[in-house]
Amino acid sequence: MNVKKYLTKIEDLSHKKIALTGATSGIGLALLKHLVSKNAYVVLLVRNLTKAKEIVGSLNYSKIDIIEYDQSSYKSIEKAIDELLVKHSDIDTIVLNAGVLSKKGITEEGYSLTIGVNYFGVRHFIEYISPKLTKETKIVIQGSLTAGARLSKKTDITRTDYGIFKQYNTSKIYLEAYFNKLVKDNSYPLISYVLTEPGISSTRISRNLPKVVYALGKVFLPIVFSTPRKASLTLLTGISDKSKNGDFIVPRGIYNMSGFPKYKKFPPKREREYLFE
Ligand SMILES: NC(=O)c1ccc[n+]([C@@H]2O[C@H](COP(=O)([O-])OP(=O)(O)OC[C@H]3O[C@@H](n4cnc5c(N)ncnc54)[C@H](OP(=O)(O)O)[C@@H]3O)[C@@H](O)[C@H]2O)c1
Repeated sequence: MNVKKYLTKIEDLSHKKIALTGATSGIGLALLKHLVSKNAYVVLLVRNLTKAKEIVGSLNYSKIDIIEYDQSSYKSIEKAIDELLVKHSDIDTIVLNAGVLSKKGITEEGYSLTIGVNYFGVRHFIEYISPKLTKETKIVIQGSLTAGARLSKKTDITRTDYGIFKQYNTSKIYLEAYFNKLVKDNSYPLISYVLTEPGISSTRISRNLPKVVYALGKVFLPIVFSTPRKASLTLLTGISDKSKNGDFIVPRGIYNMSGFPKYKKFPPKREREYLFE
């Protein structure tokens, strides 16, 4: 199997209108290229308009739009959603892929940047848009295998002084548990939720790690694990009509670190319903 062959398993997506975050780099950019090859209409939600315009220019593709969006600010998230629903009321799929790995930085709401963007930003997006959706919509959420890490009972998600990996793991642990809650609560029957993980892939997400680690990762990760082109296939599979509410899609390799997508039962130990009591 190679990526080209896997792509033949995914249907033509010309019937779909997809909003996508994090399309200016890494896995999101690779997914955008797959979506273009499948003829989908794509609305890019981006914080860097210049970069997004350059990408769109290089694609030579007309079924595309760009909306400014910063996932570290509730005000920006709400403004982007309002614009999205005015311009594209026929949106049927939302892919929440944007994420960050950083020790420094604080969001507008006062959370650490990594926890604020990866968890609170995504959660606010879903909470703000859900009551406004009037047709069947699928929301595909990008998780991470780090959500399988242990969460200490003492963890305080509002703290801003945790180390880089503690912030990142906490953000994805909460995000995946929130996905489970959305599926179980079923408060909005028109909305279906799919959770994906990309495995491990060399992207700009690790740029805030020590320079030597980032440089080595760029060389070795694509060889040992997945290229962004391959890592984005779990999201693409989540977008496909074959995936259903509550599906969890991961790479099929050892510890789900790399490989082509497979459906997996969401692990009960990751449900962590106590986080929302
Ligand atoms: N790479 C991996 O091994 C791996 C493993 C597990 C999970 N993931 C997840 O996969 C997703 C994509 O990551 P990636 O590896 O492709 O990283 P990446 O290359 O750094 O791409 C991250 C994307 O998110 C966007 N973004 C970051 N902060 C944002 C904000 N405040 N508002 C709006 N957009 C923002 C970035 O925009 P700019 O271009 O403007 O920076 C970029 O488009 C993330 O959720 C990440 O946690 C990745």
